[in-house]
Amino acid sequence: MGFSYDDEQVLHDVSFTAREGEVTALVGPSGSGKSTCARLAARLLETSEGTITVGGVDISTADPEVLLGDYSMVFQDVTLFDDTVIENIRLGRHGATDAETLAAAAAADCDEFVQNLPQGYGTPIGENGARLSGGERQRISIARALLKNAPIIVLDEATASLDAENETQVQDALSRLLAGKTVLVIAHRMRTVENADKVVVLSRGRVVEEGSPRDLRARKDGIFARMCALQSASASWSLKHN
Ligand SMILES: Nc1ncnc2c1ncn2[C@@H]1O[C@H](COP(=O)(O)OP(=O)(O)OP(=O)(O)O)[C@@H](O)[C@H]1O
Ligand SMILES: [Mg+2]
Repeated sequence: MGFSYDDEQVLHDVSFTAREGEVTALVGPSGSGKSTCARLAARLLETSEGTITVGGVDISTADPEVLLGDYSMVFQDVTLFDDTVIENIRLGRHGATDAETLAAAAAADCDEFVQNLPQGYGTPIGENGARLSGGERQRISIARALLKNAPIIVLDEATASLDAENETQVQDALSRLLAGKTVLVIAHRMRTVENADKVVVLSRGRVVEEGSPRDLRARKDGIFARMCALQSASASWSLKHN
């Protein structure tokens, strides 16, 4: 599959499979095309060359609304609306009851910070969630995705470092969300990469390595192996073009 924004081709002959029920991690330097792949997978963009299939169906032939119903997108910059916390979570599934919405919020570890808001789940969160921290916003987006309960999760991990408590709570919420799902994760954390079933390394819009984390780490001259060696002391994951 290939893709160009305007004239510039940013993905070249990219081909990989994210298996049903598995976690596939996309890693690579900034600008290598990870987010573009994620947007293409959910048909938020259309491929310029080649096809993407979900469950054997070419997504370019699928009704975009039906297709999006199969996906939960948990992205870096979650969009929050100038409404209450509960209504922001209910966006995950139109018509969900209060009880269902609050259960998803609790499973996403939102209860603790929401209790400290003046009107709890009824608190207006301000223009694009102005009064919430990054980790809190992320947990709201996870609650939305839990409520939606779609079979495919596309997750762009936050690059911003969260404090230790937020980090643990986000990880716990995510593990509840990801259980049993087909997951495509743009991974910025070592832990995510190590727990993935498959790692796909992108560089300058091409797949340069693909395999289990263990197999890739065992490749003597591999990019992934080199990065693991360099990054083993650090919890966060980053790669540089060379
Ligand atoms: N909307 C856009 N219009 C034009 N070019 C874009 C657009 N979005 C991304 N690009 C370009 O496409 C390339 C791939 O971008 P992409 O966002 O997929 O990278 P990424 O791997 O997700 O990077 P990061 O790790 O920084 O999030 C980059 O060169 C980027 O500048
Ligand atoms: Mg990105």
